[in-house]
Amino acid sequence: MDDGGRDEGLGVVVLAAGRGERMRSARPKVMHEVAGRPMIAHVTAAARALAPARATVVVGPGMDEVAAAAAPWPCVAQTERLGTADAAARARARHEDAGGDVLVLCGDTPAITPETLRRALARRRAADAPAVVALGFRPEDSGGYGRLRMGAGDELEEIVEAADADADTLEIGLCNSGVMAVEGAALWTLLERVGSDNARGEYYLTDLAALARAAGRRCAAVEGPAEELAGVNTRAELARAEAALQRRLRARAMAGGATLIDPGSVRLSYDTELGRDVTVEPCVFFGPGVSVGDGAAIRAFSHLEGARVAAGATVGPFARLRPDSEIGAGARVGNFVEVKAAIVEAGARVGHLSYIGDARVGEGANIGAGTITCNYDGFAKHRTEIGAGAFIGSNTALVAPVSIGAGAMIGAGSAIAADVAPDALAVERAARKAVAGGAARFRRRRGGGRGSG
Ligand code: UD1
Ligand code: CA
Repeated sequence: MDDGGRDEGLGVVVLAAGRGERMRSARPKVMHEVAGRPMIAHVTAAARALAPARATVVVGPGMDEVAAAAAPWPCVAQTERLGTADAAARARARHEDAGGDVLVLCGDTPAITPETLRRALARRRAADAPAVVALGFRPEDSGGYGRLRMGAGDELEEIVEAADADADTLEIGLCNSGVMAVEGAALWTLLERVGSDNARGEYYLTDLAALARAAGRRCAAVEGPAEELAGVNTRAELARAEAALQRRLRARAMAGGATLIDPGSVRLSYDTELGRDVTVEPCVFFGPGVSVGDGAAIRAFSHLEGARVAAGATVGPFARLRPDSEIGAGARVGNFVEVKAAIVEAGARVGHLSYIGDARVGEGANIGAGTITCNYDGFAKHRTEIGAGAFIGSNTALVAPVSIGAGAMIGAGSAIAADVAPDALAVERAARKAVAGGAARFRRRRGGGRGSG
């Protein structure tokens, strides 16, 4: 590979055409999300780090959403689910002429890392050039995984699927992860020789090892971390993959200088960025697209997605930041506040019980408790502009589109439906009607009750 450039000798094929029956889902298995994105996107991201010159994702018929999640990598369709060898063969036309090495991955191993993929590829490219390198691992429960039958050293003799294994083979702890690094020149001809005379009546990619050896070639296995290589076939395994990724993401956040007071209760996304000296209190959910600047605090029970929180800001407890929210430096978003597609500029405060949507809250403005931007009129969304240093009294309804000038003040309980000029004071409430002694008369008519009258 040239420095930082593409690896011209590397192609990647990702198998993702399986329906995933064991998920019992209407969605294709690889579209189920872990750490905020579909499994297939984790796998392609890990493989992309190796800068392959060519890549192909094999999808089932009509799996447009899988193709979209795999973009910009192109997809080919496997029309019938005949097994992993048949799936890999669908990519032949796109890879055959290139030679080099082909890394075959499964779309259902979302925790896999580039480092582990590189190790498998490096073994394939070692001087003794094994035609097939399988990436193995030792799960706690070998269950339905294929078993790697080893010879001397790291020599791989064959891969036996659990459904076809005898009792002795099932005792083998070293399992097949589904990742293989294969010599391109050998791959496509060996795939032609794969048959389906086995317990599942499928064309197994795993037959490549024995077929390569029958052709006089060497095969090898590389062992990787079980936490990365566990496959996801069921919802329970999906939850385990999520847990594995969360552990990794939390460790990365803490290594980067963030304090997670109760790491196990913080849910991160694959792309969550936490700066130095960020404090995250217990029970916080980070959806995709969140970045938090240095020294900011995300307090307990907050839910953030698609939000940028600048340095020194405070969010929560019990706050919700929806996509396209931006919280400026030192700003405060307090309890039971929801922000959507809005900028709360530096030093502004939205302390309690508010909805700020499609809006700009200017620098240093103060938004009183219970203030609502009424952004939707039943047909369309409208914007609210609040100028720098404005003061919005508690329980104000700002009926968008509306603009509050810089430094303006709004009296509590107002419903503001027209623009307010800078530095103006606006109060918009129903006129007060006060009747002297009226309460006492009311009680007398009702025949007593509380009070002195
Ligand atoms: C496969 C391996 C097994 C390994 C395990 C690791 C084979 C025969 N078995 O078993 O040795 O231990 O992965 O997790 O390879 N797919 C297609 N088209 C098909 C069938 C499958 O694209 O016709 C895709 C699936 O979408 C999936 C991947 O290939 O991403 C693996 O298929 P799956 O059915 O999950 O194989 P396993 O039974 O888990
Ligand atoms: Ca699987």
